[in-house]
Amino acid sequence: MDSIYIYGGNYLRGETRIQGSKNAVLPILAASLLIRGTCVIKNCPRIADVYHMQNLLQELGCLVSWAGNTVTVNAFHVNDNRMNGESVTRMRSSVMLLGAMLGRLGEVTMAYPGGCVIGRRPIDIHLKALRKMGVEIEEQEQMFTAKAKELEGADLELPFPSVGATENVILASVTAKGTTVLRNAAKEPEIEALCGFLKEAGADIENKADGSLVIQGVEELHEAKYTVPADRIVAGTYLAAVLAAGGSVFLENAPAKQLEAMLAVAEEMGGCVTVNEEGIGIDVIHRLRAVPYLKTEVYPGFPTDLQSPLMAGLAVAQGQSLIEESIFENRFRIVGDLQRMGADIEIVKNKAYINGVDVLKGTEVEAEELRGGAALVVAGLAAEGKSIVKNRHFIERGYENICKDLRNLGADIGLG
Ligand code: UD1
Repeated sequence: MDSIYIYGGNYLRGETRIQGSKNAVLPILAASLLIRGTCVIKNCPRIADVYHMQNLLQELGCLVSWAGNTVTVNAFHVNDNRMNGESVTRMRSSVMLLGAMLGRLGEVTMAYPGGCVIGRRPIDIHLKALRKMGVEIEEQEQMFTAKAKELEGADLELPFPSVGATENVILASVTAKGTTVLRNAAKEPEIEALCGFLKEAGADIENKADGSLVIQGVEELHEAKYTVPADRIVAGTYLAAVLAAGGSVFLENAPAKQLEAMLAVAEEMGGCVTVNEEGIGIDVIHRLRAVPYLKTEVYPGFPTDLQSPLMAGLAVAQGQSLIEESIFENRFRIVGDLQRMGADIEIVKNKAYINGVDVLKGTEVEAEELRGGAALVVAGLAAEGKSIVKNRHFIERGYENICKDLRNLGADIGLG
């Protein structure tokens, strides 16, 4: 059965360790394509999206192996420049291979990438930036071919600091001819991780005080080792779980600096947060307060990926909360299921008005995408009785073992 069951109502107590970051490891794996040799990437989460990226790399000719949570990629032979439809459309992050393949082979034909059903998710910003670097793009119905005789550094300014477009420009420019200046680049921690890996491999990337990136193309990258940082979104999901269900939890390895916006919200709600070098502690003893206004924003603002998990917590907080979603237009898909669990939420365009209720009731709900699915698990932890979250494969795209982690914290949860 592709589901998770939860008997809600337990306080969460104890410690759990946070896995490596999905959104950091995916572009790093794509970047390994640029290196004619072997890269060793430690602390890789064993999640469906990483396995999917592994398959894509193997289809292109790379050798990929696992030992524990360490992935070794040998990209000595990359011989195929076509990426078939299904493998690309299943995961949005396949689009990372665009910049990497251009850097490696100068040409790629791929389907338009897929991903979570959380909005339109076009790639116009990626393509426009790459065109300025000398890339010609021929668009067909479902596919496109991108090719460049020679990638050239360019002076670029993104109209919006898209995470994926920033990553693609970085991947295309590290071995391009000349210097690329990327203004209005995304500042998400996963960009820093990608640059960290590429610098280990010999790339010349500089962060300017004004937030732009200056990338001096190098002749060739060399083999590298890198440890993937902890996943801020998984840590934030578990913080939301404690806000929803109550308890006293320590999240080992959780990156507090990257979670400042989430921690500020937790404190505003009345949670008690402690931070030290080993991770984040949170205590929630009383029923929490609503958050009068919260807007999702690019980093370091409140992350859109934590909006749904937090909403599950706000559904049982005291008072009215308002969340404005400014990044993805379709990120309120869990509201119907939360309402069926007894939540009082009204959606008006991109705003959710949440009137906290005393208690949610366990019921059968259906994950439709990754973070929304995790949010339904959070709601199930706070609900009375049994919840069943169907389609757990969506959750497994990003959470290595959400049931085990939450069982470590005393939740009554398992695979159904
Ligand atoms: C990445 C993350 C995702 C996160 C998002 C925002 C990965 C694998 N995924 O997604 O978890 O929610 O950042 O922090 O790292 N846009 C355009 N045209 C483009 C590109 C983007 O209009 O060419 C729009 C999107 O539709 C969206 C917004 O820009 O509304 C943000 O997208 P972007 O920052 O690119 O997110 P992703 O890289 O897809």
